[in-house]
This record gives sequence, C-alpha cells and structure tokens, in this order.
Amino acid sequence: MDEIANPQRYLERMSKPLQEKLRIAHFIPRGTKTVLDVGCADGTVTLALAEMFPSINFVGIDLSNEFIEIAKKKAVGKPNVTFENVFLRERLANSQRFDVVLFCSVLHEFFSYGEGTSTVVKALADAHEMMKPEGTLIIRDMILYDYMNQSDLWLSTIEKKIKNKVELTDLITDFEKYFGQIVSTKQLNHFLLKYMYEDNWQREGKENYVPVSFEQYDRVLKLLGMKEQYRESYTIPYLIELWRKDFGLTDEELACFRSTGIIVAQKE
Ligand SMILES: C[S@@+](CC[C@H](N)C(=O)[O-])C[C@H]1O[C@@H](n2cnc3c(N)ncnc32)[C@H](O)[C@@H]1O
Repeated sequence: MDEIANPQRYLERMSKPLQEKLRIAHFIPRGTKTVLDVGCADGTVTLALAEMFPSINFVGIDLSNEFIEIAKKKAVGKPNVTFENVFLRERLANSQRFDVVLFCSVLHEFFSYGEGTSTVVKALADAHEMMKPEGTLIIRDMILYDYMNQSDLWLSTIEKKIKNKVELTDLITDFEKYFGQIVSTKQLNHFLLKYMYEDNWQREGKENYVPVSFEQYDRVLKLLGMKEQYRESYTIPYLIELWRKDFGLTDEELACFRSTGIIVAQKE
C-alpha cells in the first residue's frame, strides 16, 4: 500500500464523519453476538459501535500495524472489543464465524491497493465465508450507479462551473491522467469527492474512490447467494454545502451527485 504521508491527519479525516458513519448501527440485527469490522484503522468506528452495543463482541482487523497498535491502546478496559493486525483472508484460518461483517469506507482501498475488482470480489467471498448462516454483510462506501456514466445535458454547465476554477486545473489534469477525461456525471462526481484532498494528493489523487458500482455489487452478491435487504444512495450534508460554496452549484445541480452508498445483504 502507498505510504500515508501524514497518518495522524489521515486518521483525523477518517474519524471526522463519525456520527454519519454510525448510521450503519441501524443495520446490525437484533440478536447479533459478534461483529467483524474489516479495515478498522485506529478503531474509531469499532469502538463507538462497541459502546453502543455492550452485549456484542467486536473484532476489528486492519493491514496497518501502526493503526492497530493505536486501536489496541484505545480498547484497554473495554471488554467487548479486540483488534488484530491481520489480513482478511488469513483471519479465515481462525474458526470463529461472525453474525455481522462490516466494511466501512474500505472496499475502495481494497480495490486501489490490491488487484482491482478481483480483490474486492475476493474480499466479499471471504466475508461470506466468515459469516454464520443468515449472517449480515454491511457495506458503506463511496458507491455510484453505472447509469451515471451517461453524459447528460446538465454536465456541460456543471463542468464549466468546476473547470473554471483555475486553482483546480492541475488536479483536473492529474485526475484525467488517472481516470480518463471527465465526460460523464459519474467522473465529475468522482472528482468532486476528492478535489479537497490536495494536501495528500500524491496518495488520494490516484486512489479510485468509486471503483465498484451498485450494479456490480448486485451481481457479486447474487453470485455469492446473498440477498440484498437494504440499499441507500445519498450525499452527506457537509459535501452538499462544500460543493455549493466552492462551485455555486444550484440545488438541481447538486441533486446529480452522491457521496455515499450503503448496502446490507444477508447470507442465505
Ligand atoms: C479509509 S480507512 C477506513 C477506516 C474505518 N473503517 C473508518 O471508516 O473510519 C481504510 C482502512 O482500510 C485498511 N485496509 C486497506 N486495505 C485493506 C485490506 N486489504 N485488508 C485490511 N485492511 C485494509 C487501511 O489500512 C485503512 O486503515
């Protein structure tokens, strides 16, 4: 994985939208005893969930030992949460199986720092294997629909508002080098999700934030025999306000873009 230039800042950025991320708590079914939080970083989300659900045991895993060490320190004295520096696939060797497997803001990183789609498909297959019968999979990430690939009438007006920002010229050139010319709402949406991370652009610029669409998740989950129970596509209010302020986008224009997707599926 690419070096994180400033791990402290990365973690602060991750933990900022904590309340928003905790919407995933709604999808932890009644009667759940164990939750695996994959890609837990410093455990901010895992620990908050563990506090909300004292009778559930949480295990957080992450590839970064540095983050797991921080998480372990924060977990001292909290009996229902443990952290491990282990790869998801390796964790399968442990016979423990979970009622819920959670991927919060992490599958786009599996894609970018692994082998692309195959790494995401393998992670979902591993998650399926990691769950008890009728277990629940919760995915929260930046997810867009494929149909947003269509260019549309809106695009040229919105594109102008964004491309007119001279200070963004270098970022746009770079973005187009990695992801191709911005010719669809989806690409414009992708750019809108990342232009604000200029200070960590070396890493963020080339990371694909939206590599797997809702339609693709549908197909993979179906193939794994999982039943989709809930889906949501929305934009966090902070970003709506940021895009309005930075580009003067109107309500109608803002409605074209999304930041977040939630998918909940059950193992059959
Ligand atoms: C964007 S952070 C999300 C952290 C946390 N889930 C949250 O929502 O605040 C992504 C985390 O995924 C971890 N990660 C990336 N690829 C991974 C993999 N293949 N296996 C486990 N963890 C991974 C990274 O180390 C990083 O800590």
